[in-house]
Amino acid sequence: MATTPVYRPVTPAIVAALEGVVGAANVVRPGPDLDRFSHDESEDLFAAPEVAVRPGSTAEVAAVLALAHRERVPVTPRAAGTGLSGGALPLHGGIVLSVERMDRILEVDEANLVAVVQPGVVTERLQQEVEARGLYYPPDPASRGSCTLGGNIAENAGGPHCVKYGLTKDYVLSLEAVTADGRVFRTGGKVRKDVAGYDLAHLLVGSEGTLAVVTEATLRLIPLPRFRRVVFAPFPDLDAAARAIPALARARITPSALELMERSALAAAQAHLQRSIPGGEAEASLIVEVDGHDEAVVEADLVRVGEVLAEAGASDVVLADSPQKERDLWRIRRCIGEAVKKIASYVECDTAVPPSKVPDLLRGVRAAAARHGVRQISYGHAGDGNLHVNVLSDDPDPGHRERALRPAIEAIYAVATSLGGTITGEHGVGCVAARYLPTCRDANAIAVMRAVKQALDPAGILNPGKVLDGPDFHAIPRRPRRRTATP
Ligand code: LAC
Ligand code: ZN
Repeated sequence: MATTPVYRPVTPAIVAALEGVVGAANVVRPGPDLDRFSHDESEDLFAAPEVAVRPGSTAEVAAVLALAHRERVPVTPRAAGTGLSGGALPLHGGIVLSVERMDRILEVDEANLVAVVQPGVVTERLQQEVEARGLYYPPDPASRGSCTLGGNIAENAGGPHCVKYGLTKDYVLSLEAVTADGRVFRTGGKVRKDVAGYDLAHLLVGSEGTLAVVTEATLRLIPLPRFRRVVFAPFPDLDAAARAIPALARARITPSALELMERSALAAAQAHLQRSIPGGEAEASLIVEVDGHDEAVVEADLVRVGEVLAEAGASDVVLADSPQKERDLWRIRRCIGEAVKKIASYVECDTAVPPSKVPDLLRGVRAAAARHGVRQISYGHAGDGNLHVNVLSDDPDPGHRERALRPAIEAIYAVATSLGGTITGEHGVGCVAARYLPTCRDANAIAVMRAVKQALDPAGILNPGKVLDGPDFHAIPRRPRRRTATP
């Protein structure tokens, strides 16, 4: 294991120099305004930076990094702070570099099916902008209304529609980025085929802000499918719902979304929204969406989906027969993460396995949770084999919580990896899962990762404590649970 470099504090002279780069109004000093740069959406984790800066251009990002590199001050890049693996937490203090002001859609090139964006563009804003032109940018994390493309690129974010359309990486054609010591580089252009050298864009996608800071992205767009149908299917038992996943694949159906919620997940969402849906008390349920450009084909797929779900044991297959009902269904599904947060302290295992192994994963997770006496709530992108397993503890004592949760978390990761899976499908390693990276990557692979990190950030100033050499999860500082008044 590499040792953590010795970092220097952010001195008044450094703050003054940062003000010279980004303007005093864009330097956030210690005080209440710094609070929002001290956490992301990962549980109750909390770490304050010494200062936050909000550059407005690539040149300013480069100047901030050059300065931080010279002074050996750690830099935590930050997009919207909606991440779920602690990626935006400044564990070593230093500077938070927020790209929130770099929020322009620079171009939508309809002839080349490409959008050029800055990293602070809210994902849903790009989606709406291109949908108005009959185009589609599919990656859609649950937080798409508030997360931004820079964060999506850093985490290689997914979402419900990846099962048919792929992840963020599948839409990144090229990037402009800044190295840890402040040099700007481009990985390519709008070219679809470009094998000139190492694929630097895809090295940076999912690198969680540890290798470089992305300042511009050229993203692939596709024609917007014109027809879409969504069904909700309750199942009397979890195993049957899980077995429907490989059954749909065997029927040669590629849904545009294939989500599974176990009873506790749907219950949390219903309580959170204070509304219930028919069938919402079932042991497990699926949301299945089909889409396409030909209405007759979409309708035929829908019929086939209904048949497969019924054969698999669904107690009902309910069509969301209006745009409003579709929106309601998705609202319920997308709020689960937030809803679970309200229940208790939780740790999320973002498990992913080959999709045919989803039934084994769910069985294994339930057994592991029961063995260790913890409550768990699972839901997620079952069509991708990606299930968000949340283990909960009501114990206010952190020591007790740790003793209860740690063995359960380790057992759940062990289930996922023993099925040929991974410890994180889409939320990233960050600091929450860094200690568990060796459970799904061999020693040589980790050595290659270290060599890449060393080559690109030899001083170790970029987002230290993430991916490699992270802290023990339970040692990450937390703040008292934020309970909100509304359910
Ligand atoms: C979701 C987030 C938690 O799928 O990834 O809701
Ligand atoms: Zn998800």
